[in-house]
Order: sequence, then structure tokens, then C-alpha cells
Amino acid sequence: MSYPLLLNYVANVDTDVTAKQMQKTLAQINIDLGDIKPYISFSAKDYERNLIVANDNCELYICCWKPNQGSHVHDHRDALCGFMVLQGTATETVFMMNPTLLAEPMIALELTPEMSSVRERGEIHQIQNLHDEDLITMHVCCPPLSGTNLYECAKEE
Ligand SMILES: [Fe+2]
Repeated sequence: MSYPLLLNYVANVDTDVTAKQMQKTLAQINIDLGDIKPYISFSAKDYERNLIVANDNCELYICCWKPNQGSHVHDHRDALCGFMVLQGTATETVFMMNPTLLAEPMIALELTPEMSSVRERGEIHQIQNLHDEDLITMHVCCPPLSGTNLYECAKEE
């Protein structure tokens, strides 16, 4: 799926899209960094999040991460969110809430260019750039994020 087709997808997708459907769409995306050049910007302070487009049902944005930058441990409330790596390597950790309401890491995934991952509504994760190369990711959220819930991590024994 080229960049214009991706924009067309975002313009027409329903909010009740399933994780499986979004995963399939992300797997078909074939864009290069030139397509999203205006949305690539890095900051030494924190990762940058640059919106490409949003409507009532969906939003598409780019995140740019310097080495050692990462998100908080968070969920996406009622939004289904998927992301795809365009450059670098993303480490995505998926968490479960333990009985004491702390986020317990379950699995860590290493995602390289063209690899993608989709998180269900309410699922908890964290994205980090733990590598030496700058990381660029593209994110699709349906509906657009109304905010995130942040979680505290369970301490490692
Ligand atoms: Fe997220």
C-alpha cells in the first residue's frame, strides 16, 4: 500500500476495525522515508510525535526516537493502535496488570523496518529505542487517542 493509499485508508476506516484487520493493513504498507519527510524531526529532550492526519475515526502520526528515548508504560484507552517501524529498531514491551495493580512485563519484541505490531484497546505497552541508530515509527490509532493511562512498573525481584 503506497502512501496515497494509506492516506485514503485513514480517511475511510471505521472505528470498529479489528486488530487482525489493522495488522493485515500494516503488513501491506510500503512507504519510504521521503513520503513522510515533513514529519521527521528529532529532539534531544524526548521523542517527537508528529501528526500527519486525523479525522473522527482515525489518526496517523510519526514518532522519532533518538537512542535511549522511550515512551511511558501506557495504554491507549478505547483506541486500537498499531505501529510500524520505518527506520531503526523498536523494542516493544507488553505488560499485564498484576494483582497489586502494577504493570508486569510479559514479553519484549524487537521490531525492525517493515515490521509492525497492533495493541488491543486497553492493552499496556511501552516503546523504546534501545539501539544506537535513530528510530522512526508510524502509528495508526482508531479512534484517535483521547489520552493514555500511565502505569507504574512492578519492581524486579
Ligand atoms: Fe502506545
